Amino acid sequence: MRPQGLPDFIRAVPKAELHLHIEGTLEPELMFRLAKRNKRKLRFKSAAEVRKAYAFAGLQSFLDIYYEGAAVLIEEEDFYDLAAAYFKRAAADNVRHAEIFFDPQAHTSRGVPFATVIGGIRRALVDAEATLGMTSRLILSFLRHLDEADAAATLDTALPFRDWITGVGLDSSELGHPPEKFRTVFARARALGLRCVAHAGEEGPPAYIWGALDALRVERIDHGNRCLEDAALVDRLVARRMPLTLCPLSNLKLKVVPDMAAHPLPGMLARGLLVTINSDDPAYFGGYINENFKAVAAGERLSANDVRQLAKNSFTASFLSAADQARWIAAIDRVAA
Ligand code: ADE
Ligand code: ZN
Repeated sequence: MRPQGLPDFIRAVPKAELHLHIEGTLEPELMFRLAKRNKRKLRFKSAAEVRKAYAFAGLQSFLDIYYEGAAVLIEEEDFYDLAAAYFKRAAADNVRHAEIFFDPQAHTSRGVPFATVIGGIRRALVDAEATLGMTSRLILSFLRHLDEADAAATLDTALPFRDWITGVGLDSSELGHPPEKFRTVFARARALGLRCVAHAGEEGPPAYIWGALDALRVERIDHGNRCLEDAALVDRLVARRMPLTLCPLSNLKLKVVPDMAAHPLPGMLARGLLVTINSDDPAYFGGYINENFKAVAAGERLSANDVRQLAKNSFTASFLSAADQARWIAAIDRVAA
């Protein structure tokens, strides 16, 4: 079938998703199912009531409810079901490759073993590759509100699973927790051959993006919206072709932008920044990747060429091999033609 309008093209074009927290894909219906299975009580009566609670004042008010929701994840099967549901949903949006964050400390701090967490996610990942033809990678994300020693201990715990992990990231409460706090653990991760990324410039200032580049030597910045306040930083990001994994619906829900018509993504793309579109925590922010594309594109703020460029950027910014990236970029051009 030949794609008709822009929404059809957005759906049809192959995409990589590079900024997705697996715990952020916990839909309220699954939350209830797992709470029942694990005999845990929720403070909400229904999925509708849960969704009503998703009105956030900013990042911290979201994180409080995100960690609360994640507490229903206890058994390996729970992590499997969570990840399997994401893969199925993402495949429907024609996501062909995903690089997925998981937050082990959100679970090990509750007594859930690291092996349980990664075992369930890994099994779903292998199944998704076999049944959906969708590839993925895992990025172990450190919680930045905890101290560096906790991150270092988490990295130690992860070592037996080194082959299942592609990289490390940094997420959770940004303000007051600059990247420099994690300089040593990132250096160790890099020495192990792990790729490095970090959330920076979502709520935090441009200095945190500089810190992620210089102290953590990251290969991608997650979010990075606030780079726009620092012209020298934008120049550096453009010159180094540093990917920024933007999350438009997240930005709207967490009040990083006042409304979608004011989202800076089209201007960032025009400025030559290597921006990508992602869904962050889609169960909490009201849409998976295609909804994020459509939200930015509304009001003709993105052309078909822009969408094609964004899809290409998603593979260029991925940790796939150069040959795999080139294959997907050629596939995008075929769909566009
Ligand atoms: N953890 C899950 N989603 C996050 C976000 N958008 N920023 C920081 N930490 C997160
Ligand atoms: Zn995020």
